[in-house]
Amino acid sequence: MLLEGKTMIVTGGNSGIGEAIVLAAAAEGANVVIDYVVHPEETADVVAKAQAAGGHAVGVKADVGEPADLQKLVDAAVDNYGRLDVMVNNAGIETRTSLLDTTEADFEKVINVNLKSAFFGAKLAAQRFIAQGDGGLILNISSVHEDWPMPGNIAYCVSKGGTRMLARTAGVELGAHNIRVVNLAPGAVATPINAETMADPAKMKELNASIPIGRMAQASEIADVAVFLSSSKASYLTATTVFADGGIMQGSVGL
Ligand code: BGC
Repeated sequence: MLLEGKTMIVTGGNSGIGEAIVLAAAAEGANVVIDYVVHPEETADVVAKAQAAGGHAVGVKADVGEPADLQKLVDAAVDNYGRLDVMVNNAGIETRTSLLDTTEADFEKVINVNLKSAFFGAKLAAQRFIAQGDGGLILNISSVHEDWPMPGNIAYCVSKGGTRMLARTAGVELGAHNIRVVNLAPGAVATPINAETMADPAKMKELNASIPIGRMAQASEIADVAVFLSSSKASYLTATTVFADGGIMQGSVGL
């Protein structure tokens, strides 16, 4: 098994890509810490599925926009499993608003959940990795929109652009500690964040036509890449982004 004995934190591990990463990692033998915001029962189902898949999991109450709460996730990894190996900064939201329509409250919420949490998640995990003395991985679940505009979703794009530089700069800063920092950038994935598009057949037709592979990804296809990146098979990857987008960023009508 690729992740036997490794301990991971997966923020936003209750649903969508995060849940798929929890289950794929558990099936490879990992111990996983998942956050929930208010209701413990939100994680109970994922925790049970992770145990059934062959791993171990625990839910911890935490607001990922608060560094003190992120520290609770690191502490839970150490208290329950003795160490931390991989910090997956996955929690993410979007407002689907343009510059002219984005309020200060919208902007702050998106930046807190998508970028501030990844920044301080990286910092706190790196501190733990340095104390352990044998390296680690910070894996940010980014988006094609870390480098590709999505008009009408600008705060999200700005937050993901921030994680692009987080991976590159922190990757350089932490390389000497054998800490890798990698972004995994999906394109369109069949998860709740895309529920509105998925409910509209005309939009789905247009979206699928714009993807060279011809369809959205399943969350498990992104999770498989996350497992590879978390394993020793990806030991030379750092300070960069791995795109798993079905070719959407390179799509061209050829005219
Ligand atoms: C966004 C989706 C969008 C997809 C492809 C994702 O990062 O969350 O809303 O459909 O990128 O553009």
